[in-house]
Amino acid sequence: MASVTVEDLAKRFGAVTALQPTSLSIEDGEFVVIVGASGCGKSTLLRLIAGLEEPSSGRITIDGRDVTHVVPADRGLAMVFQSYALYPHLTVAENIAFPLKVAKRPRAEIAARVNEVAKALELTPLLSRRPRALSGGQRQRVSIARAIVRRPRVLLLDEPLSNLDAELRVRMRHEFARLHAQLQATMIYVTHDQLEAMTLANRIVVMNAGRVEQVGPPLDLYDAPASLAVARAIGSPGMNLLAGRVTDTDADGTTVQLEDGTEVRAAVRAEPGTSVTLGVRPEHLLPRDDGVFAGPVELFERLGPLSFVHLGARGSSGTVVAQLPGDRRVMLGETLRFGAEPTRVHLFGDDGAAFARVAQPFTLPPSRPVM
Ligand SMILES: Nc1ncnc2c1ncn2[C@@H]1O[C@H](COP(=O)(O)OP(=O)(O)OP(=O)(O)O)[C@@H](O)[C@H]1O
Ligand SMILES: [Mg+2]
Repeated sequence: MASVTVEDLAKRFGAVTALQPTSLSIEDGEFVVIVGASGCGKSTLLRLIAGLEEPSSGRITIDGRDVTHVVPADRGLAMVFQSYALYPHLTVAENIAFPLKVAKRPRAEIAARVNEVAKALELTPLLSRRPRALSGGQRQRVSIARAIVRRPRVLLLDEPLSNLDAELRVRMRHEFARLHAQLQATMIYVTHDQLEAMTLANRIVVMNAGRVEQVGPPLDLYDAPASLAVARAIGSPGMNLLAGRVTDTDADGTTVQLEDGTEVRAAVRAEPGTSVTLGVRPEHLLPRDDGVFAGPVELFERLGPLSFVHLGARGSSGTVVAQLPGDRRVMLGETLRFGAEPTRVHLFGDDGAAFARVAQPFTLPPSRPVM
């Protein structure tokens, strides 16, 4: 186990700034998940921590020790890549043993450690096979086994499951949760998968354009995204985002007029006249006869336990997606109406920053919809 901190860490590739000066502090044994749009610098940050890239500036410490210029092998960490990067000519056992061989560990210790991790990852029956005789999930388990065989204090994982099919991803996701509990290692995990981020993370780091936008427990980021980039990065299907303008403000919040003229209440503080992006998640839209989010059903996605309807014809404001129970029948073209509790409505300014919420007198949200 080890804490990891980066201070003003930055990376430029020629004219490209892959990572703006970034500071981040990861605690001992924490499971941190990094999310963000493609190209925002997730892999760069991980590779800098691993020592696979030289930083342009800044400092990295592991357990208080400055490792900024320490070679990867001496940082006490291991990395798992999206491409498993196994040696094709070596058996599973030899692949797993490789880091220990390089470290010149005694033969008996190597055998014991390989057997131990193989057992933990259910690879024992496969030890004499070569990688090409393995399924994708088995290969990834071998690459994880190889990464943990030296008992790294920090495990870095860059989209480790993205080459696997849906079912296997779910199994491996559970595997990572178990592994984290078992190893007690500090884990830094990059993914595009919402479920992986929400379920595995102690804290999520949302990155955008080479910067860290927000860091926090998954539900904090889900409930109170600090910016549009975070609102977009967390939740699936994503938050509905509609352009509007604040028309009125009172003690309970603000009224926002959308581009198609409809008015929406938000328990948020913003000055009248401010142009805003209004955000509301599909699961926070409630079917209501007087709901202001209305339109003909353009698309209906039935997922089983729940469904999503896409409502069209909102002028320039775009489509609105709402969640419905799985047994709800819907006809294409039918007009549906939804409302949202003001506490569930987010407002973002032109700079993308979220406006502050109106302080809630009670910790529980109102039990009935409020107009
Ligand atoms: N070796 C390199 N040389 C030049 N530019 C690079 C290099 N590596 C990364 N970049 C650039 O740095 C930026 C960040 O890249 P990075 O790989 O960290 O993104 P990412 O968040 O991991 O994206 P993805 O989700 O697609 O994996 C991108 O604009 C990328 O093109
Ligand atoms: Mg990447």
